[in-house]
Amino acid sequence: MFSGLINKSSIFGLDIGQSAVKIASLKESKKNQFVLKSFSFAPLTESAILEEEINDRAQIVEQIRSSLAEGNIKSKEACIGLSGSGCVVKTMKSPEGPIDDIEDHVNWEAEQFIPFGIDSAEISLHIMDKTNDINRDVIMAAAKNQEITQYMELLNSAGLKAKVIDLQVLSLINIFEYNYSDYLHEYKEGTLLIDFGAQSTKIIVYRNGMPLLVKTLLIGGVNATEEIQKEVGLDFNQAEDLKKIGVTGTKYPDEVLAAIKKISDKIVRMVGDAVNFYTNSNSEDRIRHCFITGGSLRQPGIVEGLIEVLDISVETLDPLRKIGLANKSNISEGLIEYLTYSGAVCLGLALRNFD
Ligand SMILES: Nc1ncnc2c1ncn2[C@@H]1O[C@H](COP(=O)(O)OP(=O)(O)OP(=O)(O)O)[C@@H](O)[C@H]1O
Ligand SMILES: [Mg+2]
Repeated sequence: MFSGLINKSSIFGLDIGQSAVKIASLKESKKNQFVLKSFSFAPLTESAILEEEINDRAQIVEQIRSSLAEGNIKSKEACIGLSGSGCVVKTMKSPEGPIDDIEDHVNWEAEQFIPFGIDSAEISLHIMDKTNDINRDVIMAAAKNQEITQYMELLNSAGLKAKVIDLQVLSLINIFEYNYSDYLHEYKEGTLLIDFGAQSTKIIVYRNGMPLLVKTLLIGGVNATEEIQKEVGLDFNQAEDLKKIGVTGTKYPDEVLAAIKKISDKIVRMVGDAVNFYTNSNSEDRIRHCFITGGSLRQPGIVEGLIEVLDISVETLDPLRKIGLANKSNISEGLIEYLTYSGAVCLGLALRNFD
């Protein structure tokens, strides 16, 4: 085998989020050290994806093409991340024993747990702590075949192949653990990782450096935009612009701020309920710290709400904490800022190239 002929950096991460298509490609500069070669995104209108379902296929294909061109990506091989009701993630302890026994155990659990039936799903298992033979932490991920096929077809229409199909929550875990391995190593208390997206809020509870609970709430920034629309009588784009003016320091009109805060409160309450469900059954597992990512973390009321309701310290996840920029990457400061909030999942997908 002539390894020099294999272009190891050919798979790029493709995150099809509700608000935008995002593309990232990484290069391994030294062993297990990466630099960002390219990052680009192309926005989607509010109707391209509806309730986590592909609605306007042609638009998504068009925007994939446009972000590929923007990022100057020639490769045709993508790693994509699925999310939504066709995906299930569960953490579990597996019994000691060989990999076959673990697989049997996971399949048994999957039968109890997968709402759409094990026969119509692809299942993968990820052994988290390979050094511990007894009671290993395992993450089971399952995706509905129908959903996988739908995304493969979407990629085909854009002239691409889905080389790796991941779940968005797992790619979030991937990028977090890559950048914060030192933190996870030292910090054994409960920690939260939350992605405040446009259509969903993804929550991961860590304990002893392992993800214990993975949950996706179907609420996000879109709900705040729709609430502004309802209150002020604007179209979606106008309401979206109005929602984001906080960034420029302009003061929100009172009724707009009230509409945004109403949704932020709801999101924080739902996060609190999910976390309490976990801490109630493990009373010693007090959660003290939270890493946040996703564009909607900038929504007024989110950070303040987390601090108040959950009584925790909050830190914005830096997806580039251990990833430098490639020499000729030419990525503007504005793009880096966007990536910092909205690019974590996409970078986690790009990392899969080096598994
Ligand atoms: N300054 C801002 N203030 C408030 N909200 C913002 C701001 N900037 C971006 N957002 C919101 O962040 C969301 C986009 O974030 P992100 O890119 O993480 O979502 P996504 O990945 O497209 O969505 P999902 O993961 O739910 O599919 C949008 O709802 C957008 O309105
Ligand atoms: Mg997202």
